[in-house]
Amino acid sequence: MDKLIIEGGRRLTGRVKVSGSKNAALSILVATLLVKGKTKLYNLPRIGDVWTMLEMLNKLGVKVKLEEDFAEIDANEIESYEAPYELVKKMRASFNVLGSILVRCGRARVPLPGGCDIGTRPVDFHLKGLQAMGAEIRMEHGYIEAYADKLRGADIYLDFPSVGATCHLATAASLAEGTTYIRNAAEEPEIHDLFNFLNQAGADIKYIDSRVIEIKGVEKLRETSYEIMPDRMEAGTFMIAAAATEGDVLIEGIDPVYLKPVIEKLRETGCEVLEMENAVRVIGKRPIKPVNIVTLPHPGFPTDMQQPFTALLMIADGTSMVTETIYDSRFKYLSELARMGADVKVEGRTAVIKGVKELTGAPVVISDLRAGAALVIAALMARGVSEITGLENLDRGYENLEGKLASLGASIKRVAEESRECLV
Ligand code: UD1
Repeated sequence: MDKLIIEGGRRLTGRVKVSGSKNAALSILVATLLVKGKTKLYNLPRIGDVWTMLEMLNKLGVKVKLEEDFAEIDANEIESYEAPYELVKKMRASFNVLGSILVRCGRARVPLPGGCDIGTRPVDFHLKGLQAMGAEIRMEHGYIEAYADKLRGADIYLDFPSVGATCHLATAASLAEGTTYIRNAAEEPEIHDLFNFLNQAGADIKYIDSRVIEIKGVEKLRETSYEIMPDRMEAGTFMIAAAATEGDVLIEGIDPVYLKPVIEKLRETGCEVLEMENAVRVIGKRPIKPVNIVTLPHPGFPTDMQQPFTALLMIADGTSMVTETIYDSRFKYLSELARMGADVKVEGRTAVIKGVKELTGAPVVISDLRAGAALVIAALMARGVSEITGLENLDRGYENLEGKLASLGASIKRVAEESRECLV
């Protein structure tokens, strides 16, 4: 098992390029199952979750070819209607193959999902939506079994604007008979990227009002090439890391509009943030002023940035309050931050953070992907050395994080557990 060894206290400076978006890539890979032929995807991030999804496609009989700068997905034949448990339990987003397999094969068998340990994450909206489109759904032995010769258009209302359910249902509906409406749909930028991909392949999907999507079913999708959008969560992570180390970093390859909530909150802490064409520059300042944050569906403050941003607030000059409204248990990582000297307590869905003078390096364990980002940021600003384990969670969503941070001047090294290699 690898671990990261980080010696804190170094300013991050320089420029860093953002990789392709994890969440857009995952939903687009699911959608390639609907294309009877080849799809070429550029800017696919080289991260654990993408490998898991490619393995899933492969297990379903899809041919996957990885080239230097693109991946070719050939879903001409789908050989299996069953998604393997060992892949779905690893990554929740892989559950969304259910609708695509159902459309292609007339039946599908997919286990109930696992994923990051951040609270209960049911799939009831997904199943209700597929049922509304005419699928017969059964739950047996931990598996969902779905049957439908052809899905038909339906009027679907989501109790909450779920990203996964919006992507899953809109993708399946793109080949349904008739028109589907999804109301109270999510509108994260990655969903727009999925729809751009699907429309380029011949689908007919659009937002007709705020949170209302209209999907006119088409006969088939055609072969296409598509470049996946950049990862706003990775960009946001580097922005916060720059602020945390009093650094000066230019984050390239991302439209600042995607990062508005993070930009505004960083400015409230006193940091300087310059919005450029396809880049953001963050210049960290001290003292860090305390701020209050409430996570919300897009365009609100993204829950995926809650953990890294909270790490920054640990050394603010005063008390901050961070309220998590999307997940019921996304504060578990705080006990690890407390081991580094953070003063924080959780009251219901709100974390109350009293800023401390400094954090100190400690051995800590990553419990989920963005907890990993939070711990890395905390370690970058802490005095002394931190040893971070549980890297499989971090590797799910960040491409070469330690390489990129090292290029900005961080003292960071990945070592095998028993190795005694020196710091960079
Ligand atoms: C996606 C993102 C994740 C992000 C999240 C919220 C991917 C691969 N992951 O996750 O990074 O943190 O959106 O922005 O894109 N819910 C139900 N029933 C359902 C579906 C969802 O109750 O059938 C609830 C969930 O438990 C959660 C909330 O809705 O409390 C939001 O979840 P959702 O938007 O679906 O998140 P994911 O799609 O899993």
